Amino acid sequence: AANGARAGKTRNIIEKMEESGKNCIIFYGSQTGTAEDYASRLAKEGKSRFGLETMVADLEDYDYENLDAIPSDKVVMFVLATYGEGEPTDNAVDFYEFITSESPSFSLDNDPPLGNLNYVAFGLGNNTYEHYNSMVRNVNKALQKLGAHRIGEAGEGDDGAGTMEEDFLAWKDPMWKALAEKMGLEEREAVYEPVFGIVERDNLTPDAPEVYLGEPNKMHLDGTPKGPFNAHNPYIAPIQKSYELFSVKDRNCLHMEIDISGSNMSYQTGDHIAVWPTNAGEEVDRFLDIFDLTGKRHNVISVKALEPTAKVPFPTPTTYDAIVRYHMEICAPVSRQFIATLAAFAPDEESKAEMTKLGSDKDYFHSKVNVQYLNIARLLAIVSKGKKWTNVPFSAIIEGITKLQPRYYSISSSSLEQPKMISITAVVETQELPGRGDPFRGVATNYLLALKEKQNGDPNPSPFGLTYEIMGPRNKYDGIHVPVHVRHSNFKLPSDPTKPVIMVGPGTGVAPFRGFVRERKKMVENGQAVGKTILFFGCRKSTEDFMYEREWEEAKQVLGDQFELVLAFSREGPKKVYVQHRLKERAKEINELLQQKAYFYVCGDAANMAREVNAVLAQILSSERSISEERAEEIVKQMRAANQYQEDVWS
Ligand code: FAD
Ligand code: 2AM
Repeated sequence: AANGARAGKTRNIIEKMEESGKNCIIFYGSQTGTAEDYASRLAKEGKSRFGLETMVADLEDYDYENLDAIPSDKVVMFVLATYGEGEPTDNAVDFYEFITSESPSFSLDNDPPLGNLNYVAFGLGNNTYEHYNSMVRNVNKALQKLGAHRIGEAGEGDDGAGTMEEDFLAWKDPMWKALAEKMGLEEREAVYEPVFGIVERDNLTPDAPEVYLGEPNKMHLDGTPKGPFNAHNPYIAPIQKSYELFSVKDRNCLHMEIDISGSNMSYQTGDHIAVWPTNAGEEVDRFLDIFDLTGKRHNVISVKALEPTAKVPFPTPTTYDAIVRYHMEICAPVSRQFIATLAAFAPDEESKAEMTKLGSDKDYFHSKVNVQYLNIARLLAIVSKGKKWTNVPFSAIIEGITKLQPRYYSISSSSLEQPKMISITAVVETQELPGRGDPFRGVATNYLLALKEKQNGDPNPSPFGLTYEIMGPRNKYDGIHVPVHVRHSNFKLPSDPTKPVIMVGPGTGVAPFRGFVRERKKMVENGQAVGKTILFFGCRKSTEDFMYEREWEEAKQVLGDQFELVLAFSREGPKKVYVQHRLKERAKEINELLQQKAYFYVCGDAANMAREVNAVLAQILSSERSISEERAEEIVKQMRAANQYQEDVWS
């Protein structure tokens, strides 16, 4: 985890603060980039509004035993996302273990150990998960126990309710007020100061070998990428085959086989694969156009951090085109704070007034922007009636737009059967929106769809007319490739294959269970005995979106009575039939299997399905065992704690 050390930098936060003259550190624990983004925004605001000397710090880049030596005229902020089942993000694992341990060993002998530490805390969570915001809650508790002083409230943002940005905005204002009071800071008129400097490299053309055109790091630029492949270094994997599992009207579902045999990567059944997407050409054009960058899109530039603690979020020298296409989340929901920032650079007074209104009125913003799924370029074009936003400094764009993030998919193959071939099962994101011309299309899944079309020889790279530059114009890769890395998960079959398993996975929630069923089938083919294997699968209609139908029949041939597929078609009869209704019909059998220590798995939609399945299971236990619902819920909780109940869910 010694990122800083690897680069020959100090891991000592006090040393770092002293050498760079900082008095406010903002640590982040981030998995998908939002927490990192919020940390940067706090840093910027602290500096421009209060003249704080802020720096953003990745938790994995520093050691924590000298948190006790940070003097009380400084402040430390923690912006902490909770990942999955109440886990810390990958970069915060060591910090979390340290700070929540029984008695963390600090550098000094203070009593209480963190009596000098002033801190601020904000958490990013999702209330559809069991352990809502447990990271910030537990860290806050631990810091309090160690005697640290919190400034303002410990904020909590909720992705489940879709209010993350608003929760953050509502939390930070009173926090700044409390902080200014505590540290005796004067608020000043905020002036925009760029964090990054842009140098035009007139002597370089985009085909020069040192210019990055989408390559994620130096090894990729040199054409010598090697492992470990991870969140900083993807493997550019050939796609061995891809096809549609179903395609009805505007709904498509993809199956893709990704070949990792050329790498030293490995996976286990139940893991996740991260796909690094590329933005659609049309959205790249729209973005460059509105900021008036089209004319110089292929100019080579270097981007430099103007202060020592800021990090340029992509490698340079590069081009405007490559930055926007491969490194910026240009289609994501617009941040209201960014809108307020951009108001100052509006092309005319009318646009400025509209931006100020959007930036300050949350309901107005919601009705104009969110309900239409507008991205930043689409919004700006509407606000200015097509006039270009020529005055926006490119640094403000880099600061205001999140880094393009890999998307995770539950691996749908079995590593026992095919250790070097990973399959994914993904439904293509498309939303028709009344009042908006074209439908909203998800970034990664439409990119995957285009790869599939291209691989199958379709001259039009996307059925929707979107175009992609696949792995950049330099295109070192023959054939069809996708950048990926593997993330290990705890979602696993029981180590004893004779244990029964009950799997609940409607829609694409079936992905990991295809892997589980194929794994058990392979075991039987290898002469092993396996336990009862029941899969509850749901979709709209047997004739429409029933995935892997033939494969289930093949599994049945091998597994015999040990395998059972229970189906819930929601749109075939007069009433909706869901997987949880089928569970209830099987209450007696489910209870018996659980008494035989069956493992229970749920995968798919976190917002409603997973919750309802959890509730139905408790009802089943309550009625079958003649116990109270509270007692039954308690048992389900214990099953979760003992890993007998496992979830792989997303929203
Ligand atoms: P995105 O472009 O990221 O959009 C996703 C959603 O964000 C949109 O539907 C919309 O609600 C919102 N949104 C985006 N932009 C805007 C905007 N401008 N305004 C308003 N709202 C906006 N998916 C699968 O299909 N199969 C799997 O097996 C699978 N496994 C997963 C496992 C894990 C652990 C996780 C975390 C997720 C998994 N997912 C899976 C979901 C997957 O990671 C992606 O989120 C999904 O494919 C959509 O990605 P996208 O880039 O196409 O859409
Ligand atoms: P519906 O779209 O007809 O409501 C896969 O998406 C399947 O999951 C579909 O059949 C869908 O039904 C169903 N589904 C939707 N909401 C659900 C919920 N809350 N619980 C279980 N299944 C659900």
